[in-house]
Amino acid sequence: MTDPAASKEGSANGELARVKEEWREMIAHDLRAPLANIYGVLRIIEDRRPGQAVEPAESLLVGDAVGSCRRLLEVVNLYMDILQMETGMAPVRVESVALKPLAEECAKRQEALALQRGVRVTIEVPRTLAVDADEEILGHVVENLLNNALKFTPSGGQVTVAGRRHGARVELSVKDTGPGLDVQTAAAIFDRFRQAKARHEGRIKGNGLGLAYCKEAMAAMRGDISVATAPQKGCDFVLGFGHGAGAGSIGARRPATTFR
Ligand SMILES: Nc1ncnc2c1ncn2[C@@H]1O[C@H](COP(=O)(O)OP(=O)(O)OP(=O)(O)O)[C@@H](O)[C@H]1O
Ligand SMILES: [Mg+2]
Repeated sequence: MTDPAASKEGSANGELARVKEEWREMIAHDLRAPLANIYGVLRIIEDRRPGQAVEPAESLLVGDAVGSCRRLLEVVNLYMDILQMETGMAPVRVESVALKPLAEECAKRQEALALQRGVRVTIEVPRTLAVDADEEILGHVVENLLNNALKFTPSGGQVTVAGRRHGARVELSVKDTGPGLDVQTAAAIFDRFRQAKARHEGRIKGNGLGLAYCKEAMAAMRGDISVATAPQKGCDFVLGFGHGAGAGSIGARRPATTFR
């Protein structure tokens, strides 16, 4: 017979090992790699003799180092934002926010990516639909969801931002026709630095922080976030506000009927 205490300890050790591996990967990929790049370029500049002309190849290296600085700053800023939200220290200014213009603005900011990816974005939000939220934070959340949808949906696909009211509850969803996720993966993607296999294969760029930010941001605005998904059935991320929201219902839910 298996000892329940021993098996509990075993699974705690397994979880600890998984978290350690995730941190090791994050430090190596998101912090050490860009820092090493910046250090290398600065050393080249340091070794240059006074008055020596800048080689064209050096300019390219400097451009690379600037990109690395940007990546590092993005990770650190996003991580700080998440920590601030988590500890209730983020300034959240709640006001009535109209969802249609907000969705349109987010789509505009992601337009270049949509064109590049060959994915169509449609907005189906009633003009009168509004929620109590922080406009800037909600904008970041919707843009994160749109960015993911565009990043993971193959060319020719479709992303729909839709708004609806269910009694006192208002929902805004970002739904795509991409590859979707299995239930186990879907339950984990709201954790920090969680990414599906694509990252390890180097196909998709990102830090695995976007959804962790969305989760903390929605909680800070007393809303909720969930995803309905299944392999090959796309992802349908739903933000909920008002009645029924804020009850900690963050996470994966069963695929919506449209997916069955
Ligand atoms: N619409 C989607 N379709 C398929 N997989 C998704 C979708 N949205 C998120 N995921 C999966 O969830 C993971 C976590 O998403 P998240 O936004 O947190 O990180 P990221 O996009 O990889 O990086 P970042 O947002 O920090 O740039 C993604 O790497 C991807 O594996
Ligand atoms: Mg993302």
